[in-house]
Amino acid sequence: MKALILSGGKGTRLRPITYTSVKQLVPVANKPVLFRVIEAVRDAGISDVGIIVGDTAPEIQAAVGDGSRWGVKITYVRQEAPLGLAHAVKVAQDYLREEPFVMFLGDNVIQGGIERLVKQFSQNTWNAQIVLKHVEDPRAFGVAEIRDGRIVGLEEKPRVPKSNYALVGIYMFDHHIFEAVNAIKPSWRNELEITDAIQYLVEKGYKVYPYVHEGWWIDTGKMEDLLEANRLLLEELTPQIAGFVDSASEVNGKVWIEEGAEIINSVIRGPAAIGRESRIVNSYIGPFTSIYHHTTIEASEVEHSIILENCQIIDIPQRIENSLIGRSVEVKRSPIKPKAIKLVLGDHSKVGIL
Ligand code: G1P
Repeated sequence: MKALILSGGKGTRLRPITYTSVKQLVPVANKPVLFRVIEAVRDAGISDVGIIVGDTAPEIQAAVGDGSRWGVKITYVRQEAPLGLAHAVKVAQDYLREEPFVMFLGDNVIQGGIERLVKQFSQNTWNAQIVLKHVEDPRAFGVAEIRDGRIVGLEEKPRVPKSNYALVGIYMFDHHIFEAVNAIKPSWRNELEITDAIQYLVEKGYKVYPYVHEGWWIDTGKMEDLLEANRLLLEELTPQIAGFVDSASEVNGKVWIEEGAEIINSVIRGPAAIGRESRIVNSYIGPFTSIYHHTTIEASEVEHSIILENCQIIDIPQRIENSLIGRSVEVKRSPIKPKAIKLVLGDHSKVGIL
């Protein structure tokens, strides 16, 4: 069994963060989403892993390396243009060959991993098994119709969905998928849709089964989804204090303080994560906050937010909430006259002023 992780795409809905950083590498509860996907695959017993990369290949390769850190062997497969999920399978054919594989979108996070799914698929002689989640409104996703325990039809982002089962972005396939991806035509958005390829399998009489996922699932395409994934993952955190907490500070609830971090005269109310070498001084860090590495928070309050590495947030009188702050950002009170807000913001930045 092999794995194919998709890590191309431009992440336009996460701008401006994705101008300078790859969406799959944005840390959620202080760990990049892509690393979580690799761990889920490894924990399901798969060690031969292909990663589909596009324009952001250098950054992904630098962050992930050869996979030895996780005990897996990684092969990078280049997709020259983002022409769809089925196109990604097509370009990976030489890598995958005849082996069954799990395909996992590199920006999806699911609760509980994929061990049961991989086991069930290996114990059966099915041609495909598709992970589905029962959702209130599935119109933003692929949607599957189930009859007598089998998938009998699929549609990509239908206006009038035939069921509430959304495609999660995790799929099991055997080699018949190559017949499908080579037969289908591009969709209206000029992509080879994996949903159409699976529909092809259904129509040709191949055995396509559902796997209904019961835990939570987040497609981290937008900032609100990232914050929600951060909240859910922090709740599952095993508390650990590897950094320094001084006697004037108070740490409550599930809190992960990484090595080299310092908490001075501050209150940390979990669930929260404070990254390596970060400093929290005279501050309050509230629930559902992840502070990544080498960041300083001084005389400020932060809650329900993700703050990336090398930031400085100093002396901010109002609480910062529901925020996603990129790398090396400075937010400081400025004593320089005239008394005014002074901003240096990249394209597509968003600022909410009181
Ligand atoms: C893709 C798939 C869709 C699936 C979704 C899950 O959509 O085409 O069927 O439900 O991922 O995240 P996209 O993110 O390309 O719009």
